[in-house]
Amino acid sequence: MSEQNQIIIFDTTLRDGEQSPGCSMNLEEKLKMARLLDEMGVDVIEAGFPIASRGDFEAVEAISREIKNATVAGLCRAVKRDIEASADAIKSAPHKRIHTFISTSPLHMKYKLQMTPEAVLEAISESVSFARNFTDDVEWSAEDGSRTEDDFLCRCVEAAIAAGATTINIPDTVGYAMPEDYAAKFIMLRERVPNIDRAILSVHCHNDLGLAVANSLAGIVAGARQIECTINGIGERAGNAALEEVIMAMRTRPDAMPYTNNIKTEMITKVSRTLSSITGFVVQPNKAIVGANAFAHESGIHQDGVLKHAQTYEIMTPESVGLTRSNLVMGKHSGRHAFKSKLEEMGYNLGENAFEDAFNRFKDLADKKKNIFDEDIIALVEDSTGRDNENIKFVSLVIQAGTKGPQIASIEMDVDGERKFAMSEGNGPVDAIFKAIRMIIPHDDAVLQLYQVHAVTGGTDAQAEVSVKIEENGKTVVGQGTDADTLVASARAYIHALNKLVDKRARTAPPEIKMSSAERAGP
Ligand code: KIV
Ligand code: ZN
Repeated sequence: MSEQNQIIIFDTTLRDGEQSPGCSMNLEEKLKMARLLDEMGVDVIEAGFPIASRGDFEAVEAISREIKNATVAGLCRAVKRDIEASADAIKSAPHKRIHTFISTSPLHMKYKLQMTPEAVLEAISESVSFARNFTDDVEWSAEDGSRTEDDFLCRCVEAAIAAGATTINIPDTVGYAMPEDYAAKFIMLRERVPNIDRAILSVHCHNDLGLAVANSLAGIVAGARQIECTINGIGERAGNAALEEVIMAMRTRPDAMPYTNNIKTEMITKVSRTLSSITGFVVQPNKAIVGANAFAHESGIHQDGVLKHAQTYEIMTPESVGLTRSNLVMGKHSGRHAFKSKLEEMGYNLGENAFEDAFNRFKDLADKKKNIFDEDIIALVEDSTGRDNENIKFVSLVIQAGTKGPQIASIEMDVDGERKFAMSEGNGPVDAIFKAIRMIIPHDDAVLQLYQVHAVTGGTDAQAEVSVKIEENGKTVVGQGTDADTLVASARAYIHALNKLVDKRARTAPPEIKMSSAERAGP
């Protein structure tokens, strides 16, 4: 297939995705996601919005230092110091992109920016040519592009390309477009903008009407060659176009979508699950491609058909997205070596401490649970990795519960290397545990916003995966814990969230940004 049919996959999970409430990630988590995205074959990783906060800046900087294959992009408004912050954050990336944007629709220019169209045009030329001082790879986005008048959009795009933009992105910022209208915008730009051949056109669609993927694909058919998307479709409001959906649509329907891309689809399930476990955003069971039921054939007629010939009801194989049929992997007699080989086969390469922790927990689990499946191992490993540096650690838990009451929790924790104990009564065992933890680490301003339990596999001996969300002064963190005992998993999840909260507190507040009217609002 010709180079002209190659689609650039631009992943914005760590920027547009992370920006949505409840999806925030810390530096280690962002790095973990960036490594996976790179390994999966994403072409551009939008790593953050460096001017927005110190945390964002540091994450973009760390990702730029580490990622070798993908281009790392930093977002910025059409403002010099935003562009400088972005340039600074991405400076060590082998392949770097500055992504600058400004609103172009009548509504946004009048009310949000309070700028005239002429001033917006000037800002486009100035910002793009300033960005070109730092890299040859500059993307310009027309925020609310799908609601921008054609004549003005043509002038903006022409000005951005003339100033040096190499990618032109036309976002459907509010998820308002219909596929035909969105496609027509690209056809119109290709016909009317004289220098359009000097840039790659890009789609960026939000899902407010459930059309983000359809709109993205319509834009590609109309000549765009870059798709901006996120894992599991996370993002502002109803989210962005889901990477796994656009990719599998192209792979499954090459007749309608004769395009190529670099994504290793077999990594989709792993990347999706990692993101869910980091953010606590569980994917709905019937979600396309990555939902728990996406490949489940429950009805007898369907099962019969699939057994006779898989393609009767299966348009993609589970293996093509990396879903292995629940394998019975190991039991209590499996040793260290077998466990390590299994981890490697599943794509996990753990450091020494994380491996030891995962192995010990695997042994404990094998004592309690007869059949251990791939899903059990994934949950256990996800719970062990990236926690080496935590200062607050779970040690042990004793619970008294049942109908008679009182329900009492006695917890033992390790805080900065020191053993701490606390005992508390509560309104049920979970409440007692959380109160006991609160006695050891006081956090009176924090509110528990979500407590969620999910069984990793079937059966009464299944491991429980608990997610908790805590909010303190506008900062939200999510913690995860897994264990065969739901109450131990709850304690682990709460302690995980507390570690993140403490980490978040330690980071200073975002730099005070005094904004002119041109800078007034972010994306
Ligand atoms: O949705 C949007 O318009 C954006 C831009 C900043 C690219 O996210
Ligand atoms: Zn967006």
